[in-house]
Amino acid sequence: MRQFSLIFLLVISVIHTLAVDKNNFKTCDQASFCKRSRSVQHERSPFEVNIDTLIVNPNYINVDLTNKHNGQIFDLKLEGIKGNTFHFEIDEKSPLKPRYRVVDALKGEPTYEAIKVTATGSDITVKCGENKVIIYATPFKLEFYQNDVLTISANSKAKMHFEHLRRKQEAPPPPENENEQNENEAQDQNQDEPGTWEENFKSHHDIKPNGPSAVALDFTFHQANILFGIPEHADSFALKTTVGNGDPYRLYNLDVFEYELNSRMALYGSIPVVYGHGHKSTSGIYWQNAAETWVDIAGTASEQNVMESIVSFVAGSRQQDAPSAHFISESGIIDVFVVLGPSPNDAFKQYTALTGSGNLPQMFAIGYHQCRWNYNDQQDVMQVATKFDEHDIPMDTMWLDIEYTDSKKYFTWDHQKFPNAVEMMKNLTNMGRHLTFIIDPHIKRDSGYFFHNDCTDRGYYIKNKDGKDYEGWCWPGSASYPDFFDPEIRKYYADQYLLENFKENSRDTGIWNDMNEPSVFNGPEITMPKDNLHYGGWEHRDVHNLYGQMQLVGTFDGLLRRAENELRPFILTRAHFSGTQRYAAVWTGDNAAEWGHLEASIPMCLSLSVAGISFCGADIGGFFGNPETELLYRWYQTGAFIPFFRAHAHIDTKRREPWLYPDDVKLIIRDAIRKRYSFLPLWYTMFYEHERSGLPIMRPLLSQYPLDKNAYNIDNQFMLSDKLLIRPVMQKGASKVDVYFPSRNGDKQADIWYDIDDYRKIERVGVESVTVNTYKVPVYQRGGTIIPRKMRIRRSAILMENDPITLIVAVDSDKRAKGTLYIDDEKSFAYRQGKYLYIEFEFIDGVLSSQLIDETASYTTKVWLERVIIVGLDKVPSSATLRASNNQATQVDIIDASKTAFTIRKPGVSLMEPTWSITLNY
Ligand code: NOJ
Repeated sequence: MRQFSLIFLLVISVIHTLAVDKNNFKTCDQASFCKRSRSVQHERSPFEVNIDTLIVNPNYINVDLTNKHNGQIFDLKLEGIKGNTFHFEIDEKSPLKPRYRVVDALKGEPTYEAIKVTATGSDITVKCGENKVIIYATPFKLEFYQNDVLTISANSKAKMHFEHLRRKQEAPPPPENENEQNENEAQDQNQDEPGTWEENFKSHHDIKPNGPSAVALDFTFHQANILFGIPEHADSFALKTTVGNGDPYRLYNLDVFEYELNSRMALYGSIPVVYGHGHKSTSGIYWQNAAETWVDIAGTASEQNVMESIVSFVAGSRQQDAPSAHFISESGIIDVFVVLGPSPNDAFKQYTALTGSGNLPQMFAIGYHQCRWNYNDQQDVMQVATKFDEHDIPMDTMWLDIEYTDSKKYFTWDHQKFPNAVEMMKNLTNMGRHLTFIIDPHIKRDSGYFFHNDCTDRGYYIKNKDGKDYEGWCWPGSASYPDFFDPEIRKYYADQYLLENFKENSRDTGIWNDMNEPSVFNGPEITMPKDNLHYGGWEHRDVHNLYGQMQLVGTFDGLLRRAENELRPFILTRAHFSGTQRYAAVWTGDNAAEWGHLEASIPMCLSLSVAGISFCGADIGGFFGNPETELLYRWYQTGAFIPFFRAHAHIDTKRREPWLYPDDVKLIIRDAIRKRYSFLPLWYTMFYEHERSGLPIMRPLLSQYPLDKNAYNIDNQFMLSDKLLIRPVMQKGASKVDVYFPSRNGDKQADIWYDIDDYRKIERVGVESVTVNTYKVPVYQRGGTIIPRKMRIRRSAILMENDPITLIVAVDSDKRAKGTLYIDDEKSFAYRQGKYLYIEFEFIDGVLSSQLIDETASYTTKVWLERVIIVGLDKVPSSATLRASNNQATQVDIIDASKTAFTIRKPGVSLMEPTWSITLNY
């Protein structure tokens, strides 16, 4: 067996040195449902609403929809949801058997809102708040209006397609007229095409026991110039037109070796939310379906003609059709949430109001993570951790990849290499550090392995089409896969994380769930056959994109219970779906040590962020290959401003710890990591605000500058919250980079920006060429904001808990600024019981004041205010007066005055003080 594993690993390593093998993955033409649905072309949609069947309820309506081509009847349900959101579902009225409905993606039942309904002979109008939907009967079409502005329509391109479940030999009903007879014949021929009732791909045969079951619908975004969303793809943030231009974007969780850039191929995760953005409004569609899905995009302005299209749109002469997205899924029902914005941030919040936001992580998780495949043994782990101290480089978490296990049996350790894992964990804890180790979903089929025996005895594995335990190949060789859709199996799985069951574990280790697409090396498209069977009798086809998330539900529960519900779990996942943000951070998988992959990490994480997943990052340095040193330090500098900050590398790569490079390189990397740590109070506050508001942490420029069309296609810059503008250096040998400073009104109206390194002021709209040296990352603080930092950098984030704060007050053109700071115990859930401080700072008319946002919350902290740096005032004051809550006044000194900034030295006030102020004296 061991010999087999070695050969197998060797084969995998060889595969790893090659570029992506496209032959392993289907094109739309090779996925018969995609081919059939994509080619649907009707002059007029065959679907019609039978208005007579309308039933009105306080929050929703039901009405029948008929496909005139075959007489099939469907139920349309439409409901109003709080916050400019509508939901509708279309399902078969009397299906042969029930069709799958997605579980667990929504954070709970949405908050429904009252509707008012009026019907005429030809349409139904459903009003909800200021918005309305008009349902046109013949042909069927839905129009969504935000405040009387037509924003989104569905089926206006007549692409709706719904393959009702039927028996193979079923004859079509007699046609009502001749035209329909022709169309019916065409459709029947289509249904008999190879691939409709069973399908082959390479050596794999899919028996399709339910026959064709696709659903598809088109959406037009009437106010948009660009569309974005539907991660995960290694492509630009703005979606490209796919109609007449290659394959649609594919959403099917897959383990793709050496993925390609500028590609619409599916990757590890699938989040079926797309947004349309134009200068008037932003809106979105969340297509809730966990089956394989393809999305055809039409009418989006390319980079070259975005300006042209906007000019013609504004002038009322749109040259091209409004952008549209045509969703095609293999099974399930049509289940759609429409979010009507109108601002980009409104639309993002409406999506996370449905699917949830990320939980505030423990502080250590937003520090720096050191990973590679693999740290060889206990000694190696401790040596690396110690070296970080020796070289004075902060680091919070050491990671262990699959080689720590006993023969890839998860929940076990290789005792040769790790004779005392618990002691190793304790030693790391004593250093102020954490450990994260990997637990994959595949289970080694080994009769000496308790987990396998339990799963076999209790019937916990996913079944193949014949009802037997499904066997595939993964890291351990022959493996089976627990069916995480079954609550009993999830509970069993969660129990395995408990200390009483898994003794070589600790309360606060992080867990890395990888390969959970699931990856099956010998399966069709490196994953599981679609005719495999799950809990409830559902086919894998129905639930594929949700599988990884269901593993996370179990892991999250296990980690919660492991620490008696006290500690916030830290989990990293590769597969993801809508709602994954509630359980785990996500990284962009196996990238490569190439400049292009560094660049791609920005649009990839931006797309994930607007789709709810703020805690995103890419492997620093690139997973495959050995990065040249310049690429490596530029990657660290970029990663320091991206939420999940982890270096990782393939087992075949050279070791890359920072001290293995010449001193000058090590110092640059050290500087980048230290800079990250200096911003931890801001990061922590941003994570808290993300949990609270649902807004992304990492944001595209259009979130803050929706009117600036030049910003729509910028993929090499981003914002952190509404405060920092980042333009990483991502080109080899760059001595200058172009930074685009966006416009507030779509014209010349500029924000003021301050370079975070020297406080140089920039007040312009347009591109500025900025000189960079090896240390420089162009990062700008927006005038009008206040940012908290900690300037005493220690060896890990948790050791900085009680350190004092520095506030950077950067004023706008009215000489004002605002900001927030969040403080709690940095690890437990006590904040949910009001144990925290959420503070707002405001600078107006020369006075900086502080007050608590949530007055009922409280927390005892040693954190105090060490200095205030005020940036952008023309005159330097002679001194400042601090007034505490009891109104007692103290004089404080002004130091380090330059043309652009000055420092108020050591105000010394405790951050627990409910209110205080500092007045500048001239
Ligand atoms: C695939 C993951 O993407 C990669 O990060 C990891 O190192 C390997 N699996 C081995 O576990």
